[in-house]
Amino acid sequence: MEIIYARDYEQLSKQAARYVYQFVASRPKVTLGLPTGETPIGFYRELVALHRDNQLQLDGMVTFNLDEYLGLPPQSPQSYHFYMNRHLFEPLGLPLEQTHIPNGLAKDPEAECQRYEEEIRRHGGLDLVILGVGRNGHIGFNEPGTSFDRRTHVVTLAESTRQANARFFPSLEDVPTQAITMGIATILEADEIILLASGSTKAEAVYHLIEGHKVTEQWPVTALKRHDRVTVFLDREAAALL
Ligand code: GLP
Repeated sequence: MEIIYARDYEQLSKQAARYVYQFVASRPKVTLGLPTGETPIGFYRELVALHRDNQLQLDGMVTFNLDEYLGLPPQSPQSYHFYMNRHLFEPLGLPLEQTHIPNGLAKDPEAECQRYEEEIRRHGGLDLVILGVGRNGHIGFNEPGTSFDRRTHVVTLAESTRQANARFFPSLEDVPTQAITMGIATILEADEIILLASGSTKAEAVYHLIEGHKVTEQWPVTALKRHDRVTVFLDREAAALL
């Protein structure tokens, strides 16, 4: 595992964007796994800026988001569809046919999970997955206790995750209770993984990933210890317990 320390959020965002820019620029075709949340916003902004200054070849770029809330329409400002259009797809000019996000309105969410997995497989799997991390160590929406063998599946969100994400919704009651998430088995099959962690609320999860000795389903992020090409981008606050 490689660790890249940044002094602050701005530097972390720039470093991660440069890394992903080079990854994409050096391959004619690339399939990315993409995160949402507050952390990647700066990273997406910097990636768009790099593209503006040195046009990336977007024809071969295909994306799969990690997760989506169940029950939110794509035009809801809290949906990850809306988030991705706003922070990456529209500013980059990435054709939406090249992007994939689980359908939060699927009538049969289980079938949607299978369809999503098949679609990832049809594209030859993921080359690079970019992750954030939840305060309780969740990746995507794989909450503590989720088997590392699971592929894309429906999850019930931990109450602490709903509370942490309530800041994006009018009130806690508006936060969906379920989501579709790429599973940890799907994530671990990627050729390469990077994780972005910023701020003191992530320090404990980062500690378990880097200093902890155990790979434990109680801290889903520790699954990354089982992958041999992981790069972690940390700012000072996220690295405070190391
Ligand atoms: C959500 C997302 C995760 C993300 C996490 C942390 O729960 N499903 O993929 O990593 O939030 O987000 P933030 O960066 O806002 O702390």
